[in-house]
Amino acid sequence: DATLGQLAAAKGRYFGSATDNPHLSDPVYKQILGSEFGQLTVGNTMKWQYTEPSEGRFDYEAADTIVELAEANDQTVRGHTLVWHNQLPDWVNSVPSDRLLNVMRNHITNEVTHFKGRLIHWDVVNEAFEEDGSRRQTVFQQKIGDGYIAEAFRAARAADPNVKLYYNDYNIEGIGPKSDAVYNMVKSFKQQGIPIDGVGMQAHLILGQVPSTLRQNIQRFADLGVDVAITELDIRMDLPRTAAKDAQQANDYTRVVEACLAVSRCVGITVWDFSDKQSWVPSVFPGQGAALPYDENYNKKPAYYAITAALGGT
Ligand code: G3I
Repeated sequence: DATLGQLAAAKGRYFGSATDNPHLSDPVYKQILGSEFGQLTVGNTMKWQYTEPSEGRFDYEAADTIVELAEANDQTVRGHTLVWHNQLPDWVNSVPSDRLLNVMRNHITNEVTHFKGRLIHWDVVNEAFEEDGSRRQTVFQQKIGDGYIAEAFRAARAADPNVKLYYNDYNIEGIGPKSDAVYNMVKSFKQQGIPIDGVGMQAHLILGQVPSTLRQNIQRFADLGVDVAITELDIRMDLPRTAAKDAQQANDYTRVVEACLAVSRCVGITVWDFSDKQSWVPSVFPGQGAALPYDENYNKKPAYYAITAALGGT
C-alpha cells in the first residue's frame, strides 16, 4: 500500500509528522516515522530554549539528529520556530529594550545559517496574535514594538534567500478576528515587500469542530500570493475513545485534507506527531486526547484510513 507521504506527493503535496528526540529510541515509532511520512517537523529542539540556551551559545546537536534522520529517509524538514514567546530561555526576557532587536536578529541569523539548504520552510514567528486579533504582549512586542515581526522576516531572508518563510499560528483555520489580523498583516507585508512566503495554520482542532470556512480561508491567503501549510494537525476528543467518536474524527480529518487539496497553494499537511502515545494533548487538556491517526500501540485508526482515502489511496 502507498504511504501517506507517497499519496500526498502524487497530489503535489507533502504529508508529514512532527517528532521529538526522545521518541526516536522506540524502534517501532522510528520505523513508522521514517517510512510513512514525506516531511518532518522538529517538535521542540529547534526552539530558542534549546538552540541558544545562554546568549551567544548555540547548540544544534539535538535538532541536527532529526534533520540527519530526515535526510537519510529522503524526507523534507520544516523548521520550527525562530521567534516565539514560549520555550524562550529566561535570559531573553531580561535583555534591555535597546538590545533586544539585535539579540533577535542574531538568533535568527545564526540558526537560519546553521540549517541553510537543509529545510524547506521556517516558522519565523509563531503565535504573535491574541484571539481578538490584537498583538500578543510578548517580550518582543513590548520591547521592540509592532515592527518586530517584519524585522524577523527580513533577518531570516538575509540569512537564507531560498528557504520559505512562514508565519505560524493556531485558531486561524477559520475566518474570524484572529485570522483576519494575520490576513491583514500578510497583505501589508506583501504591499511593503517584506519577505513572507507562507502562512502555517496549526490546526489543533476539536472533534466535530472543523471550521466551515477552512477552505475559503486557505483560499483567501493563497489569493494574497502566499503558500499555506497545515502545520500541526491533531483533532482531540473527550476520552475515552468510542467507535462513534473515531468515525467523527475520521470525517474531520477528511475535511481538512480535502480543504488543502482544493487550494493549489496549500502545499502540505503535518500532524503534530502521529501516535496518541506521543501527543501533547493529554498533558495540557486533561481528559482529552486520542487526537492522532495512530493509537498508543501504533495501530492505525479510522482517521488514518480516512486520510488515505482523501489523498486518493485505497
Ligand atoms: O525536556 C524536559 C524534561 O527534561 C523534563 O523532565 C520534562 C518535565 O516536564 O519536561 C521536558 O520539557 C517539555 C518539552 O515539551 C519536551 O518534552 C516541557 O515540559 C513541555 O512543556 C514541552 O511541551 C511542548 C510545548 O510545545 C511547549 O509549549 C510540546 O512537547 C510541543 O509539542 C508543543 O508544541 C507546540 C508548538 O511548538 C506550537 N504550537 C502548539 C504546540 C502544542 O502546544
